[in-house]
Amino acid sequence: MLKRGDLYYPTKEFKKNACVKSKAVYKQALKNPVKFWEKLAKGLFWFKPWKKGFLRKPPYFQWFVGGKINITANIFDKNQLGWGAIKNKIALIWEPEPIDEEAITLTYGELFKEVNKFANALKKLGVRKGDRVGIYLPMIPEAIISMLACARLGAVHTVVFSAFSSQALKVRLKDTEAKILITADGYWRRGKVINLKENADEGARDTQVEKIIVVKRANNEIPWNSQRDLWWQNLIKDGSEQCEPEIMDSEDLFFILYTSGSTGKPKGTVHTCGGYAVQAYWTGKWIFDLRKDDIFWCTSDPGWITGHTYTIYSPLLNGATTLMFEGAPDFPTADRWAQLIEKYGVTIFYTAPTAIRMFERYGAELIKKYKFKTLRLLGSVGEPIDETAWLWYFKEVGKGRCPLVDTWWQTETGGILITSLPGIGPFKPAFTGLPFPGIKVKILDEKGKVCKMGKTGNLVLLPPFAPGLLRGIYKNPEKYLETYWSQCGKKVYFTSDAAFKDKQGLIRIVGRVDDAIKVAGHRLTTGELEAAINSHDEINESAVIGIPDEIKGESPAVFAVYRGKKTDEEIKQEIVGLIRKQIGPIALPKEIFVVEDLPKTRSGKIMRRILKRLWTGEDLGDLSTLANPETVEKIKEIIRSK
Ligand code: WT7
Repeated sequence: MLKRGDLYYPTKEFKKNACVKSKAVYKQALKNPVKFWEKLAKGLFWFKPWKKGFLRKPPYFQWFVGGKINITANIFDKNQLGWGAIKNKIALIWEPEPIDEEAITLTYGELFKEVNKFANALKKLGVRKGDRVGIYLPMIPEAIISMLACARLGAVHTVVFSAFSSQALKVRLKDTEAKILITADGYWRRGKVINLKENADEGARDTQVEKIIVVKRANNEIPWNSQRDLWWQNLIKDGSEQCEPEIMDSEDLFFILYTSGSTGKPKGTVHTCGGYAVQAYWTGKWIFDLRKDDIFWCTSDPGWITGHTYTIYSPLLNGATTLMFEGAPDFPTADRWAQLIEKYGVTIFYTAPTAIRMFERYGAELIKKYKFKTLRLLGSVGEPIDETAWLWYFKEVGKGRCPLVDTWWQTETGGILITSLPGIGPFKPAFTGLPFPGIKVKILDEKGKVCKMGKTGNLVLLPPFAPGLLRGIYKNPEKYLETYWSQCGKKVYFTSDAAFKDKQGLIRIVGRVDDAIKVAGHRLTTGELEAAINSHDEINESAVIGIPDEIKGESPAVFAVYRGKKTDEEIKQEIVGLIRKQIGPIALPKEIFVVEDLPKTRSGKIMRRILKRLWTGEDLGDLSTLANPETVEKIKEIIRSK
């Protein structure tokens, strides 16, 4: 019944109740996208309306200019559903990793109090509007509480993924000049306690951090500096449960989230208050069909944009219940994730192809006993999903009944921009679908001409872009200009993705055209890995490529030039150590080759393309432009003898 290339449509039942069911919305929106977004924006609570919907001064632009808003007001007392309707509803279910530990649930009313208490604690410590606050927390309720507390005060949160290394944390803390860092003693991961505080201390050393707030989570032994460190639990003890929201300008800085940069220095994407809120609210409503009775499980850690927008802001703005799980989805048993869907009656499940492939790998037997009766919608995000994984997810998890939205977006876009809408469809395996209403995209060839159907080119966004699109790279306007507004011209936003359209206009994402690789959905650049490797005393040249990986999609492979006395094994260990220390375990390479030289052009450019072909066994093409063609044979031999 299910085949590749087939198109699927929502069931009658789904369509009947869907938030959006008529295609007319696309046409209407495209007639005047600014007007369209303004209409949507009116669906939120503003302290003061905006004067102008969209203002453009290339490469900069603004949305809802002059409007005053606070996202937490929209989540809590000014929620569109009415405070009375959601106050006693569960906002958050938190499931700890250890199975013998109890889950925590917080109603909207309870979460509101916690947010206010912690916001007051931050205020006492001197945190004010515009101040940057570092958050280095695992998947625990305090991650949500601290982000919302910052938002309440207009402080700028910068969340750093808890599995990033102390050095990765340090770079981010330095760039933002955060004076406060929020962390935890430790957390559970696959049955082990990870000592996060140690990393936090190391990361905060030689930065501007003055106070470290520590959540007691795992009760592990931690280093303590009584001049600097404060227990979260003590700070909120006698705090007031009320805190007025800071009235934010639509274009005030809301948060900074770092994404990999090519030279090793991450880029701080800058997001603003009004546009982000509008996009988070409406994409949740229309793409996930979110409503108050939904139990929404987005598996992303708050350390990523997916966690920001769809674990936290979007479901809460829509008055739904969000589920957060501390651990790994396949621990302690392979079907922990399936058990959680059943236990909590999850209605919408949003995860990454990597996880889907992993579940699939565990076999059909495992999943057979789950009926997933409560599920009504599935989503995928983070990397291209191949047909096989798509069909498995659709059939085995969604039981052929749930719409499957493959959502394309980026850290930079703040919210989803391309996907089929669940009440409309079509859902086509491996295709993301149409741009969200009001979003204009084009696929351009090298010369900037629009590609014909089926032809792959550069995916760009046209004005008015999107309300949630980044407004800059923190403290780095040159990088902003160079990365997004120059390679395909100054008038369009370049996504760095290659894509093509089918005859219905559905978009398929092919992959990144810059030096980014997607490892288990996480975005890394080959440049940042190389920078870590080249920091080795005896290595000053290396090349990293992404190689196919059955579960992770892609994995890094390292070619390091080393001519010293150590054995290959020793060097490999040292490289692993450097990557672990400077980036984190998510970036660990699948293969490391110690080589004498790398293929280079006469002008000295390392030919990563040739290395990739050597690995995949593809035709190498013309090698005549190489300065050192003999190295190709040598590397081939090294790969072969592995
Ligand atoms: C890159 C952005 C935004 C959520 C998490 C990733 C790739 C994202 C899809 C998809 C194919 C996808 C793109 C994009 N990507 N979603 N549905 N199909 N590719 O955010 O880490 O900033 O990465 O992820 O290459 O540019 P990110």
